Amino acid sequence: KVTVKELIRNGEQFLDQEVQISGWVRKIRSQKSFGFIELNDGSFFNGIQVVFEDNLENFDEISRVSIATSMYVTGTFVKSEGKGQSYEIKATSVEVFQKADLDYPLQNKRHTFEYLRSIAHLRPRTNAFSAVFRVRSLVAYAIHKFFQDQEFVYVHTPIITGSDAEGAGEMFRVTTMDLDNVPKTDKGDIDYKEDFFGKETNLTVSGQLNVETYCAAFRNVYTFGPTFRAENSNTTRHASEFWMIEPEIAFAALEANMDLAEDMVKYIIKYVLENAPEEMEFFNKFVEKGLFDKLNNVLANDFARVTYTEAVDILLKSKKKFEFKVEWGIDLQSEHERFLAEEHFKKPVFVTDYPKDIKAFYMKLNEDGKTVRAMDLLAPGIGEIIGGSQREDNLEELERRMDEVNLPKEDYKFYTDLRKYGSFPHSGYGLGFERMIMYITGMTNIRDVISFPRTPKSAEF
Ligand code: 4AD
Ligand code: MG
Repeated sequence: KVTVKELIRNGEQFLDQEVQISGWVRKIRSQKSFGFIELNDGSFFNGIQVVFEDNLENFDEISRVSIATSMYVTGTFVKSEGKGQSYEIKATSVEVFQKADLDYPLQNKRHTFEYLRSIAHLRPRTNAFSAVFRVRSLVAYAIHKFFQDQEFVYVHTPIITGSDAEGAGEMFRVTTMDLDNVPKTDKGDIDYKEDFFGKETNLTVSGQLNVETYCAAFRNVYTFGPTFRAENSNTTRHASEFWMIEPEIAFAALEANMDLAEDMVKYIIKYVLENAPEEMEFFNKFVEKGLFDKLNNVLANDFARVTYTEAVDILLKSKKKFEFKVEWGIDLQSEHERFLAEEHFKKPVFVTDYPKDIKAFYMKLNEDGKTVRAMDLLAPGIGEIIGGSQREDNLEELERRMDEVNLPKEDYKFYTDLRKYGSFPHSGYGLGFERMIMYITGMTNIRDVISFPRTPKSAEF
């Protein structure tokens, strides 16, 4: 037994030997006395060609199978005379496991990504989505490898939390279905239907506050998991459930944070180009023309770095007419971000030191008293893919800021404690995993890089 990947990568080694594979029919064409099947076993982007002839006792059955049919094939591995493949299997036995129904929707024609979204349970069997989801898996692995090689400790932060890390109120509440399952307490008649945990809880919007506590123990840490946001924004870049990578580094200021982010982005791109050449070739050819040039350009150059104030100046001096008026203090809109990354710098750019009023409470206040040590990484074609900052390490300053934005300090004692017991300069960021996948593959809708997307008014499958 071998995999199609082994056969294609190390073909010579298997020549003229008997091999056994199992998989699904991707294509079939048959004639009177012979036929060809492209069998995909899941191990590789492409399938392998199986030739079958009428010396097989079930030749008629094989000739009539439809796409998606599952089967076991035994045969001799030989050089192929045909175009389009170097090797093929000359079948000596084909055992059909299940003949797929004829109404299988993925017949051999092109389907729009939009249509494929409506059959998200079947779409990983197409070329495009097989490429997307193998790359997604490799990117996840590359990220772990990047951090583990530098001895970062991977922390599993909770999904159910009692805090709002971003202070933006965009949370999904956690409640129970069943009153009888709620633990009885002697506290009186609290409505525990809403309140299984004895306090209001929600799905996490970010693991940052929790991972910061582990940063104080392990120095360099990261969390990588699903996060949830009840933002009512129906865009191609927002999902209600998405994955985030959040490193946190101790005794490190914003510059080191940007260096780490830049190294990580480059590492991921390099890793995927090296480890998914067939998939990346597909994206470069069919999804984003010039993808390789773009990515190689990212690898070869330093990212740009500007302050928010400089960025606003660039926008004001540009001749561009923006829909949303530019002035110091505004939250940069996607048209502004795109202009900076795509037209002005033409490469990824870090924007730093945003006005404090448009950023989260935990960011370190600059000496000017107006801006914070924030950084967003804007990527051409995507916009913000990373948001991060140096954290406020001064207890008084942090508490003042929490009061300013009306955060209930009693819910954040674990967080302020870090500033009481050995406070230390530290920084971190969050990489939007799906946005990174979009950037690497050229896919333009976040719904097409997560297996079963959850967005407003849509949580099928
Ligand atoms: O900028 P954000 O909100 O930053 C944080 O959550 C910080 N706590 C991170 C940290 O410092 N540890 O989110 C980080 C990134 C964004 O840059 C974006 O790429 C992604 O998460 N993101 C989303 N991706 C998909 N759908 C959404 N609704 C997203 N919201 C944020
Ligand atoms: Mg952000």
